[in-house]
Amino acid sequence: QKTKNLTGKTVLITAGPTYEAIDPVRFIGNHSSGKMGFSIAQEAANRGAKVILISGPSSQQIHHQNIEIHRVTSAKEMYEQVFNYYENVDIAIASAAVADYAPKEIAKEKIKKNDDSLTIELVKNPDILKTMGDKKDKQFLVGFALETQNEEENAKGKLQKKNLDMIVLNSLREEGAGFKNDTNKIKIFTKTEMKEFTLKSKDEVATDILNCIEEQILK
Ligand code: C5P
Repeated sequence: QKTKNLTGKTVLITAGPTYEAIDPVRFIGNHSSGKMGFSIAQEAANRGAKVILISGPSSQQIHHQNIEIHRVTSAKEMYEQVFNYYENVDIAIASAAVADYAPKEIAKEKIKKNDDSLTIELVKNPDILKTMGDKKDKQFLVGFALETQNEEENAKGKLQKKNLDMIVLNSLREEGAGFKNDTNKIKIFTKTEMKEFTLKSKDEVATDILNCIEEQILK
């Protein structure tokens, strides 16, 4: 049966990768498909929430009367869109794989193949989720962690450092989990609890994540 427990709530979700331009034709990006964030958006909308979905470049499509989608390219653009809305949302879920660094300068013309080596200077992008944590007021804030080592420790560290209420850990070591797959295997940490889930479709994972969020905010 369908529950409409999120009626009256506004949920902000970031999804997908970001592309950081090098020149007019090239970028630095990553393999994030956006599937996890879009599945969460769909499930939150089905539960009656108003959803603001801010997505980096992704081929995923979504149509739902409760979902407003804003497509962006770079981390900076994602940052700007997020903080157009963040203040007034009840729940924020950061599932985007934001590039940590971007080229310091974007070349105006296509970079030519001249020298044997080419150096591109990168500068740190703003940490969108960390900034959300710093500005947190009424929002229930959820982050993601994708780790290759010391995963639980790192996830719990991020929960604390970014001032989150919940963090979803997915391990790259698990077959079928993470980035491009249609399935995911997660652990969810709050400040006091840990829940481990089996390998499932990303739609089912979205259900688990929203059940956990509801459990926390409606208690
Ligand atoms: O620190 P790390 O990048 O591993 O943290 C991952 C979490 O932080 C994810 O929820 C991701 O969406 C968010 N993040 C962000 N802005 C960044 C980097 C990561 O919102 N620049």
